Amino acid sequence: MNILHNISLQKYNTFGIHVVAKRFISVDAVYQLKELLKEEKDIFLISGGSNMLLTKDIEKLVVHVDIKGISIDKEDENHVYLTVNAGENWHDFVLWCVSQNYGGIENLSLIPGNVGTCPIQNIGAYGVEVKDTITKVEALEIENQKLRIFSNDDCKFGYRNSIFKNDEKGKYVITSVGFKLTKKNHQLDTTYGAIENELASKEIKKPTLKDISDAVIAIRKSKLPDPKEIGNSGSFFKNPVIAKTAFLKLQKEYPKIPSYPVISSGVEKSQVKVPAGWLIEKAGFKGKRFGDYGVHEKQALVLVNYGNASGKDIYQLAKNIQQKILELFNIALEIEVNIIH
Ligand code: EPU
Repeated sequence: MNILHNISLQKYNTFGIHVVAKRFISVDAVYQLKELLKEEKDIFLISGGSNMLLTKDIEKLVVHVDIKGISIDKEDENHVYLTVNAGENWHDFVLWCVSQNYGGIENLSLIPGNVGTCPIQNIGAYGVEVKDTITKVEALEIENQKLRIFSNDDCKFGYRNSIFKNDEKGKYVITSVGFKLTKKNHQLDTTYGAIENELASKEIKKPTLKDISDAVIAIRKSKLPDPKEIGNSGSFFKNPVIAKTAFLKLQKEYPKIPSYPVISSGVEKSQVKVPAGWLIEKAGFKGKRFGDYGVHEKQALVLVNYGNASGKDIYQLAKNIQQKILELFNIALEIEVNIIH
């Protein structure tokens, strides 16, 4: 296998941070990965690189998971079951599904990253989370190179969360993900205000999967920076969940503060979710630029690299934001992106 030396990881992470991998290898087949893991277990995995902030050079062997391929396992009149290899680009996969009239993930159009990492943080947008279509996650256990199949329940999915961020963190390399998608009677989710507005502006009353995908693409393009143009990792923080009592106090001071109910297993909880973007904007950070990095001008939840920012600079900015939000609102903002120290 071909190990490369002193490779810049700039094009392998959507933040576009330049750090060096002392040793780097790209694998495009499961058997290669197995062979590699027999020799070397202390590795640093990179796939789409869309949810990480690199703050220094990587000493461990960097393994770029580039296993491609989509297969149809079975289908009936209503559903199709797919296995998609980890290295497939997420958005290309969504577009392919839309073109095949396979429904369920059209609201997740244009999310950066690869299929193999979508379960880790349970990607979600515009009312849909990927967990609702995932049937299984196949992963190689690093310690013994055995293939393990996680059912949807095994993954313990939550808001931007799964077992792969908690109990099983660092123990597996995800090799493929299974999906169950609809072939007809699609369960379209157009409830998210911005989608409704986008469809209404085009006078679309009976949207197709493509109409929804197009609407989401238009909304994301209008708000979120394209990582190919401005380095970023999407939402840098999670939307905080706070007690309703604390929210009511805040509402007295900030009558316009938005909130969403928190519903778990169909029951509304005594907590609410507050958009972190609103808090950060209110704290005065939106659109602030500090040299080569800053806070995006159209969505305050997104930190950006305008060129040659370092991961340390961006991390420091994140800490300043957290500090200010704590002072102003008594809310502890949690970072969503993986910080690589
Ligand atoms: N808002 C502001 N200022 C801002 C940004 C947001 O006031 O700069 C307020 C507005 O009131 C707006 C509300 O926040 O109505 C919600 O904003 P938006 O619809 O942009 O959604 P979000 O809660 O900020 C979440 C996800 C996004 C996802 C969108 C749409 C998280 C951490 N982020 O953002 O996910 O695209 O909803 O569903 O849950 C990502 O994870 O990388 C990501 C982009």
